[in-house]
Amino acid sequence: MCGIVGYIGSKNAIEVVVKGLQRLEYRGYDSAGVAGISNGKIQIVKKNGRVDILKQTVEDIKFTSHVGIGHTRWATHGEPSDINAHPHISSKGKVAIVHNGIIENYLTLKKELQKKGKVFLSETDSEVIAHLLEEVLEANGGDMIASLQIVQRTLVGAFAVVILSVEQPDMIYAIKKGTPLVLGIGQGENFLASDGTPLVQYTKSVIYIGDGEILRMSAKDFQIYNSDIQEISHKTSTLEMELSMIEKDGFEHFMLKEIFEQPKTILDSMRGRITADFSEVKLGGINKYAPQLYNANRYLFLACGTSFHAGMVARYVFEQWCRVACEVDVASEFRYRKPVIHSGDAIFAISQSGETADTIVAIEEAKEHGANIFGICNVVGSTISRVSHEGAYTHAGVEIGVASTKAFTAQLTVLYLFGLKIAQSKGTLTAEQIKQYNKELLAIPNQVAEILKMSAEILEISKTLKDAHSMLFLGRGVQFPIALEGALKMKEITYIHAEGYAAGEMKHGPIALIDENVPTVIIAVKDSNYLKVISNIKEIKARKGKVIAIITKGDKDIPGIADHCIEIPETSDALYPLLTTIPLQLLSYHTANVRGCDIDKPRNLAKSVTVE
Ligand code: M6R
Repeated sequence: MCGIVGYIGSKNAIEVVVKGLQRLEYRGYDSAGVAGISNGKIQIVKKNGRVDILKQTVEDIKFTSHVGIGHTRWATHGEPSDINAHPHISSKGKVAIVHNGIIENYLTLKKELQKKGKVFLSETDSEVIAHLLEEVLEANGGDMIASLQIVQRTLVGAFAVVILSVEQPDMIYAIKKGTPLVLGIGQGENFLASDGTPLVQYTKSVIYIGDGEILRMSAKDFQIYNSDIQEISHKTSTLEMELSMIEKDGFEHFMLKEIFEQPKTILDSMRGRITADFSEVKLGGINKYAPQLYNANRYLFLACGTSFHAGMVARYVFEQWCRVACEVDVASEFRYRKPVIHSGDAIFAISQSGETADTIVAIEEAKEHGANIFGICNVVGSTISRVSHEGAYTHAGVEIGVASTKAFTAQLTVLYLFGLKIAQSKGTLTAEQIKQYNKELLAIPNQVAEILKMSAEILEISKTLKDAHSMLFLGRGVQFPIALEGALKMKEITYIHAEGYAAGEMKHGPIALIDENVPTVIIAVKDSNYLKVISNIKEIKARKGKVIAIITKGDKDIPGIADHCIEIPETSDALYPLLTTIPLQLLSYHTANVRGCDIDKPRNLAKSVTVE
């Protein structure tokens, strides 16, 4: 995904836009650019690399404008470079555009436009929008709204496009389909951005632009049109965000801040959802579809990346608690394997951003087959939360670090609540068991805080991993997904090759990797698999492998076998993932830091993937 910003008003738009791009940099950070109007012409500055480089350049040349649009890119079509960076300008210099999304029919359009003499400078799909718009404007006497309607209908794919026109220097236009775009309403100034983070400093009054809509905004006002060019009115929303939430607040990195926020975010995801006497779970987002949820013959968890691992944990837990068949799949695979979907299946779509294209497409397909979709999203108002039948927000707050941490534990928490709610309705757990789990869930935030106190100790272990080339992460049962998540965290921010495996599978292949140079992280808490995991540790030690074990406090046996142990408090088997994942997050974080990696912006990644 990419980040886009627009501003019009009395401030220097270039400064506002570049600052906004810095806030959106988690969405993509391989190149960035900005356009404004200077001496009656569109002026563009774009640079390969981070927004900081762009910022320095616009400051050096003292670029000012009352209107500006900008973009921070995560490359899809064309490598990161100055030329491929946005904004893109039309052949005659009449319009400049920034685009977040993907234009699927760009090759056909490009060929047609080239035949008409348009000269393309970049390898991107996005540039086609600028040339197409200029062409359509000429054919429509410069009527921008009518032209945008045609362009909107011509483009196939997903897009949020913000447009600057040399002939209307006091306006910004935008169109949208599939990717997010938020209008920020100021006093004598207006803003546009991919999400609320660039806006919150200036205004909390926002409108989420809908698919197929066309926006025109000046400094003083704005109009929104539907796809038939009828002016429509939208309810204004209030951004539920504070500036402090999107700043590092004294932490070295967003990821570390977000790891340390977890005692609060886990509690926030349970707030108001467990009754005072612990006897019941209350999920406000489940109303009309409650019977469909409780009586489903099958639960399916669809997600990608870290959110997929939350779904894997849920499968173990739901099977145990609700005694219903469960499946879990990565959204990108689900769609293409021609899945058997029964009308009445309950599908949990799990997504931090709520914008992951693979997950959106998968649930749309499932919906067509009559499945009921329950969205578990962090970002309020996101696409997945809107296209789901019902669901629950995770309330983890804004997550900026590309490596997901607090969103994951919030997802687990909400999934546990769903599991308990369903089990209660089905009678597959007793009232006493429900009470006990609720009590244990409410104890988790303090237990997480206890683990966080070991950060310095974990840093010392991380120092031993500094030069590792390859690692194994092992776990059994409900800890298998946590091993996968630990490996994903390690590889995405340290670039150490890390494999997550079900511990029982180790002897079926991965054991061949083990020697003194391949450390293994193993989750060995005192759950029902404990003795089997001890055998795994012994097998590794017998092959001279180094072992870092996550153990339950007070364990007297494993410290005598493993090289390093990280102790965590005790909870019940099913809830352990909320605790075991914390030291793994810290282990990856510190290892990345000692290796000098760019933790919040790991190479080649973006916070969420809005293209299929
Ligand atoms: O926003 P989503 O939860 O749908 O994103 C899914 C994955 O792209 C995401 O979890 C990704 O794997 C993270 N980089 C993991 O840290």
